Amino acid sequence: MSFPQTRMRRLRATPALRRMVRETTLSVDDLIMPLFVRPGSGVRNAIASMPGNFQFSVDTLVEEVKELADLGVPAVILFGIPETKDPIGTSAYIQDAIVCKAIEAIKAAKIDICVITDVCMCEYTDHGHCGTLKTNRRGVRDVENDATLGLLVKEALAHARAGADMVAPSDMMDGRVGAIRKGLDDAGFTDLPIMAYSAKFASAFYGPFRDAAESPPQFGDRSSYQMDSPNAREAMREIALDIEEGADIIMVKPALPYLDIIRAASDRFDLPIAAYNVSGEFSMVKAAAERGWIDEKRAALESLMSIRRAGAKMILTYWAKDAAKWLAKS
Ligand code: PBG
Repeated sequence: MSFPQTRMRRLRATPALRRMVRETTLSVDDLIMPLFVRPGSGVRNAIASMPGNFQFSVDTLVEEVKELADLGVPAVILFGIPETKDPIGTSAYIQDAIVCKAIEAIKAAKIDICVITDVCMCEYTDHGHCGTLKTNRRGVRDVENDATLGLLVKEALAHARAGADMVAPSDMMDGRVGAIRKGLDDAGFTDLPIMAYSAKFASAFYGPFRDAAESPPQFGDRSSYQMDSPNAREAMREIALDIEEGADIIMVKPALPYLDIIRAASDRFDLPIAAYNVSGEFSMVKAAAERGWIDEKRAALESLMSIRRAGAKMILTYWAKDAAKWLAKS
């Protein structure tokens, strides 16, 4: 049947009917808030490139996490900015690492929220790369894969001992999910889940984050370890390998420029899928909104809904706090 018998507008006529035929939902339960923690006390440094986001010290972070939990946000993911950096990222895996202190403080405050930690070296190495460096046989300084694995395991274990509820390796070394799973299991953390940044692309959209986490690579870029943007089939291989190695949740990152990858992953794999609505996706809307060019709330909720529609269950997003408020009102 076609027009005039079929009229698509019939089901769009009233707000109640539109609600009834809506195919996708967006709930506060889907949101994960990224937070940045640094040494000190009483710190709340605004991040210029990401309006409304801050670098917190442990005490102010706990306040923020409390607010998020009260708004119903189920999870946070923590990124650390250490006191000191060195070539081997020592501040990432010492037991009194800044992220460990943050986890302990959140747990001591008995806040009912899932504390996820980003497991990576780039915030902790003085060269800003996601592992240790070695000159390869082509004469290029590059991240060593296998030597980095041991450090990532140490970092994940430090987070686990501090009380993390889930670890999220974001470094893109080969074999890291398996290495971390084994390290956790051997230490008795058999019940601690891994959210793997499985299909993480080398992306221009991480620009604002590198200001926030003070982690830009000091030379070169991350294209020898993060994925190449044109590759969708390769993303499926990355995800399948992480599942084989023991991932509990798989992630696609960034989200909006890679909705096709989220869709393909959701059609193919049964694990919960997370998507990272990254700093650049957030800051673009913020910047346009500040100029009066776009309605931030509508653009944000539409972005988040599109990520859900593509097949992600959970979304890491800098809008988590605002969206929790928006969704409670609407
Ligand atoms: C660490 C890491 C990055 C992001 C999350 N974890 C930066 C990077 O890979 O360069 C980016 C998050 C964002 O842009 O919001 N490797």
